[in-house]
Amino acid sequence: MNILVTGSRGQLGYELQKIASTDRLHQWYFTDVAELDITKRDAVQGFFQAYDIDICINCAAYTAVDKAEDEPELAHLINATAPSMLADAALLNKALLIHVSTDYVFDGLNHKPYTENHPLAPASAYGRSKADGERLLDAHGANTIIIRTSWLYSAHGLNFVKTMLRLGSERPELNVVYDQVGTPTWAADLARVIVIFADKYDRNPVKEIYHFSNEGVTSWYDFAAQIMELGGLSCKVNPIPSSAWPAKATRPFYSVLAKEKIKSRLGISIPHWKSSLIKCLEELNG
Ligand SMILES: NC(=O)c1ccc[n+]([C@@H]2O[C@H](COP(=O)([O-])OP(=O)(O)OC[C@H]3O[C@@H](n4cnc5c(N)ncnc54)[C@H](OP(=O)(O)O)[C@@H]3O)[C@@H](O)[C@H]2O)c1
Repeated sequence: MNILVTGSRGQLGYELQKIASTDRLHQWYFTDVAELDITKRDAVQGFFQAYDIDICINCAAYTAVDKAEDEPELAHLINATAPSMLADAALLNKALLIHVSTDYVFDGLNHKPYTENHPLAPASAYGRSKADGERLLDAHGANTIIIRTSWLYSAHGLNFVKTMLRLGSERPELNVVYDQVGTPTWAADLARVIVIFADKYDRNPVKEIYHFSNEGVTSWYDFAAQIMELGGLSCKVNPIPSSAWPAKATRPFYSVLAKEKIKSRLGISIPHWKSSLIKCLEELNG
């Protein structure tokens, strides 16, 4: 298969590049905004045709959650309009679009893991842009797989793990919110699962949504404390309520994703977030 990865200089794209470097099954085309701006319809359709794309993995996104409150139109263009243009190109080329979405499409008020068919009720401009993207793909005639994930991190790029390691080595103590609960996802684990979907694609019609994160549940506070401990840092982590950490965008209080569907569809078991965190820290120290 000819596989196009958009937004490939981000966290997830970086992990897909690592897998592709040893993959002999597919022909991979990695692009980011400089090579293929997904908001440019002609460029997108031209790329699909020129390289006869069978599968597009859309890792491109507007991910600045707070900034999106000031730039909702740009967030919508990149996270909703552009994925639907990728789907247009996929339909013309009979290709599959694998699109990545987020726990932020939910209201964050649940007390048990969100299933794939839970009603969308985003509480932020970023969440609304991603939910709009999902709706456009859901109604689209192209083959699409949407994978919602949460709390993504990797050894590459900007994320909570790397921020904690940096601040933990600079400061004696840190305040981190304890009342937002969810599950971290190591981008390497998500990338592996996406490649399984690519390997299995048989050109039959597909229109599915799946949830994927690591196993387990934690708060940002507990996650930070684990990062300090496993990172060998003596920085003390203080639990604080979200009300003491005002942010422009509203964050979900609870965003655990139910993963039964993806586990049974692919026959996989998913690593616990702590074991994947250890692997990411090993990579960072390596
Ligand atoms: N990060 C999280 O915690 C998290 C949680 C849940 C779901 N997700 C979703 O997971 C997916 C991957 O996230 P990530 O953390 O890997 O994102 P990321 O690191 O922010 O990477 C996104 C990439 O897309 C690029 N991009 C932005 N606009 C583009 C455009 N118009 N055309 C082409 N490329 C463009 C970005 O370039 P610039 O950096 O130059 O803008 C960046 O290289 C996204 O769909 C995101 O919404 C992320």
